[in-house]
Amino acid sequence: MKLSLDGISQQYVTDKGETIDALGATDLEIDEGQFVCVVGSSGCGKSTLLNIIAGFLEPTTGTVKMDGEAIAGPARQRGVVFQQPTLFPWLTVHKNVEFGLKIKGVSAAERERKASEALATVGLADFHESKPYELSGGMQQRTQIARVLANDPEIILMDEPFGALDAITREKLQNDLLDLSREKKKTIFFITHSVDEAIVLGDRVIVMSPRPGRVVRDEPIGISKKYGRPLRGAELRETPEFAEMRDSIAASIGMAAA
Ligand SMILES: Nc1ncnc2c1ncn2[C@@H]1O[C@H](COP(=O)(O)OP(=O)(O)OP(=O)(O)O)[C@@H](O)[C@H]1O
Ligand SMILES: [Mg+2]
Repeated sequence: MKLSLDGISQQYVTDKGETIDALGATDLEIDEGQFVCVVGSSGCGKSTLLNIIAGFLEPTTGTVKMDGEAIAGPARQRGVVFQQPTLFPWLTVHKNVEFGLKIKGVSAAERERKASEALATVGLADFHESKPYELSGGMQQRTQIARVLANDPEIILMDEPFGALDAITREKLQNDLLDLSREKKKTIFFITHSVDEAIVLGDRVIVMSPRPGRVVRDEPIGISKKYGRPLRGAELRETPEFAEMRDSIAASIGMAAA
């Protein structure tokens, strides 16, 4: 077990003193190397859950453990990729990617090696000296992913990372992320609004109810397994199993919201 969430819930108190139940009691166990996708209507507590796992937010109740140890705050073993790129505009791509390593006091030679490897992994080997504003949205997202990879985290937490991208760039990045998760065996927790994307990427799809968010469905996705090889893109989307799963999960979200 890589991650275990036990009785997590979250209440926020607004500036007006109003209490908001964002996340209902949630238990979840995630195995090492698993690719877990989370779907659910807007405001159901997905980002809240991710922020708790990241260690940015202390839950109102419950505990989160990674490798059996309670998570007490953010740590390098858990890298986060947000929907909007959060790059430093005044730094080059290379300097953005090595930023965390520099803070940690990693030597210049080691930083160079790790940043180069991470940028090559995301297909940006020729863009070390570019500034973020010179990059497309997809390239900025790749840079963000490279920055996380350079830290070599065990878990990658992604909050709608491809939500702002066009369909073609999105599919390319989905395929790259699938390659990466298979090659590097990272545990991935991935939030998306797209049921299609969740099924394309996830070994497992979790459906949350509207606020206060709870897990209402936890579905293993075994389409590739059934065909005996990893299916991708149009080939996967055109299987009857894909259409069936998509309709069924969309119905679960709809039912949860009704
Ligand atoms: N700091 C905060 N203070 C008060 N309420 C908050 C705070 N952060 C989130 N909320 C509320 O908690 C609920 C869950 O928010 P969260 O951002 O986790 O939802 P989400 O599922 O990620 O939504 P989306 O799909 O739109 O990103 C929402 O109703 C939101 O308004
Ligand atoms: Mg969110």
